Amino acid sequence: MKNIGILLSGRGSNFEAIAKNVASGKIPNARIAIVVSNRADAGGIETARRLGLEALVIPSKGKAREHHDREVAAALQQKKVDLICLAGYLRLLSPWFVKQFPHQILNIHPSLLPAFPGLEAQEQAFAYGVKVAGCTVHFVDEELDHGAIIVQKAVTVLADDDEHTLAEKILKQEHVAYSEAINTVLAGNYRIIGRRLVRS
Ligand code: GRF
Repeated sequence: MKNIGILLSGRGSNFEAIAKNVASGKIPNARIAIVVSNRADAGGIETARRLGLEALVIPSKGKAREHHDREVAAALQQKKVDLICLAGYLRLLSPWFVKQFPHQILNIHPSLLPAFPGLEAQEQAFAYGVKVAGCTVHFVDEELDHGAIIVQKAVTVLADDDEHTLAEKILKQEHVAYSEAINTVLAGNYRIIGRRLVRS
């Protein structure tokens, strides 16, 4: 049984999709061991409690980055997590944190990376005029939205889309992509060659 730790800061729809797939067995042999938020008002924390999962708020406000990261790492290690999923976690992780969990941290980003890293990626893509947008699940390294890509899903931008309908379409794909990526990583049948994840 693998232990998944979730880090989030907001509404937590990606977390909820993962939790559903864990409960239904679509993500087999895994459990969500802990959900951590840096914000007390994160909707995802309420959802976690409603689902009967362990939910912990570790406030980040006013703390040095690494100091906060050490508290979060301690909570995750206490739960013996095998995999950490960032799901709308609006914090940059310190290099120290990333080193504690090599190839064990995943993130989801609402663009086809390396296009549009950073905040409001869907709006950036829409304003740029792309015809194809999407989402990326990737390993986390020390750089923002940067590590090796595990899964990407594309959506077509239609003439009558606006940034809201585009973001909705991307989010639907996010909910599929994250569980796929988790299954790949937990199954362990891959190698990373350079930046490329190659299934073995
Ligand atoms: C998603 O768009 C995700 O790609 C980005 O933050 C958003 C989080 O949404 N990293 P939710 O909290 O999972 O609903």
